[in-house]
Amino acid sequence: MDLAKLKQELKKDFNLSKSSEDLQKLKVKYLGKKGKITDLSKTLGKLDQKDRPIVGKKINQIKTLFQDLVKSSSKRIEDFELDNEISKETVDVSLPVGKIFAGGLHPITKTIDKICSYFSAKGYLIEEGPEIESEYYNFDALNIPENHPARDMHDTFYIDSGKLLRTHTSPVQIRSIEKYNVPLKIICPGKVYRSDSDPTHTPMFHQIEGLLIDENVNFGNLKKELIDFLNYFFAKKLDVRFRPSYFPFTEPSAEVDIMDKNGWLEIMGCGMVHPDVLEMAGIDSKKYSGFAFGLGIERMAKLDYSIKDMRVLFENDLKEISGS
Ligand code: DAH
Repeated sequence: MDLAKLKQELKKDFNLSKSSEDLQKLKVKYLGKKGKITDLSKTLGKLDQKDRPIVGKKINQIKTLFQDLVKSSSKRIEDFELDNEISKETVDVSLPVGKIFAGGLHPITKTIDKICSYFSAKGYLIEEGPEIESEYYNFDALNIPENHPARDMHDTFYIDSGKLLRTHTSPVQIRSIEKYNVPLKIICPGKVYRSDSDPTHTPMFHQIEGLLIDENVNFGNLKKELIDFLNYFFAKKLDVRFRPSYFPFTEPSAEVDIMDKNGWLEIMGCGMVHPDVLEMAGIDSKKYSGFAFGLGIERMAKLDYSIKDMRVLFENDLKEISGS
């Protein structure tokens, strides 16, 4: 057997090998039971005593060469196979993707944020009061004593002695006066509750209350503040109307309407803080006066996001509220 030829053949075979399978075949071809190198080793016994070590050495060299070739080819083939695998797995960035639902804020939250940041920039403090409120703050301190007809209009959820779920955010007016004294400017967003449920009313809804108390505050100040706010909120100059109304805690009181596609739309209640409310809170009503306003967030969100049915805001259908 020509060992030099065998070496050449071996090298050529390894160079041509392209996969782990090819390598396996080469192992069989050279070192298997009937492999070429195995056959060579078998011939050793038939050689002359003196030739044996020489040929044996050469066979060993071939075996070593074989092992070296296996090593280097394995590395080459592994890399090649890995590259192949990776190239098959590449992501086609041009493929269209399905709709991704990123988290988003609820239209109610966005509306509260929008209103609060507007007033906050004007120096109003953002205040929150408790949802479980006492009759005193929810009614008495707001000039709605027991047996006052206005109490009936609130459809109150009573809890137990003297406690209730607040029916409006107005009690935060009193709590803030007690906390900060006057002069003060506050805006109070929050949940309110009324035992009322039909297509346009939900037992829980959101309001924002505003209160400003200082010396020489008048109804003109209130009108300007609210008209500026509404023009900002709806991002256009609106027709706004102040319609005389009644709230026990304001005098005079008004309801604010804006001109909508379908005519005048009531948007909030407001008025000059009743002197009795100021006095009850320990404020000198001869020195200080103030205005207050309260608006329903759901209605504002509905208008801002063109939501037709208010119930959409409470049903957590992502398709409806996430695009808003
Ligand atoms: N609290 C009233 C309600 O829930 C709304 C309101 C009216 C708030 C006039 C005010 C106000 O601050 O001045 O119906």
